Amino acid sequence: MNGLQLIATGGALPERTVTNEELSRMVDTSDEWITTRTGIRTRHYCGETENAATLAIRAAQQALERSGLGPEEISCCICATLSAPDATPSVACQVQRALHLPEGCPALDVNAACSGFIYGTAAANGLLATLGGKYALVIGCEALSRLMDPKDRSTCVLFGDGAGAAVFERTESNAPFAVTLGARGDDAIHAGGPSRTGSSPITMDGKAVFRFAVDALPKSLDRVLQKTGLNLDDLSWVVCHQANSRIIDHCVRHLNADPAKFYKNMDHHGNTSAASIPVALNELAESGQLLPGQTIACIGFGGGLTWGGAIFQYRK
Ligand code: COA
Repeated sequence: MNGLQLIATGGALPERTVTNEELSRMVDTSDEWITTRTGIRTRHYCGETENAATLAIRAAQQALERSGLGPEEISCCICATLSAPDATPSVACQVQRALHLPEGCPALDVNAACSGFIYGTAAANGLLATLGGKYALVIGCEALSRLMDPKDRSTCVLFGDGAGAAVFERTESNAPFAVTLGARGDDAIHAGGPSRTGSSPITMDGKAVFRFAVDALPKSLDRVLQKTGLNLDDLSWVVCHQANSRIIDHCVRHLNADPAKFYKNMDHHGNTSAASIPVALNELAESGQLLPGQTIACIGFGGGLTWGGAIFQYRK
């Protein structure tokens, strides 16, 4: 079967950490409210010289170095983001230039909000199949602090900045690989962008999004498992979009699953949209918890509305 295997990861986070306590001095909120409703304790915010593209370049550089590949071996570069600093050049093109990827390597941004890394992985597999080539760089990066209204307590406590990157190899092995994607146009989560005229900050119908997420997560996991013929026991890790701890807990209960399999790190990142899944993959790899040969499911859901799941194997 043709499919992608994960061979290396990288990550980049802004230095500045913002605690719940710090936010509670800026808006009418509390550490207790934020942790009990979301599981979030701290998040990172970009400094003046940082943005989604600078983070993407750092994460991608690290993933490329760890893969042991030269830049000329990368055959496509896809960046998932909803907070690109510029409409053009895309973040992916900025990465292409910074890493000296070859000119034959297509580079494009994908905006599928919090499902962006899953959409990007599917697009990378499609591009390699169409154009040829073995290795793809897929990045998720966000500077959501630039899109938020810092005075809106219903959103400013939720989001953070960061980037994660993955190098995938397209192989003909029997390793499991499948992707499922979906979309339903709806503005339950809405954001203008820093490069758009009349930029408007993130707004969200929190309760509607919560209901959507607890439905989309188990359905996407079920669909992508069906496509591979695997079941939950065959997975070493389920890496969900890190929006809210309660969304993942709800899914674990619904599936009667082992909670230890469902990686969580929103306590120290908040919701980093397209970056959350690759940042989590990178943490798992860096901490030695992700082992060669393990099979992972990644599940994204969020703005658009969009959702999706991917299953692939880690092969160092
Ligand atoms: N601090 C203190 N109080 C807050 C607050 C904050 N940061 N934000 C909202 N509140 C208040 C509200 O004003 C409301 O007060 P009221 O009852 O006096 O009107 C009360 O808390 C309850 O607000 P509500 O919106 O009903 O809270 P909730 O239990 O639905 O939790 C979310 C809010 C955002 C945490 C929750 O809806 C959620 O997690 N939604 C999904 C969000 C998400 O995951 N989005 C990304 C998907 S990709």
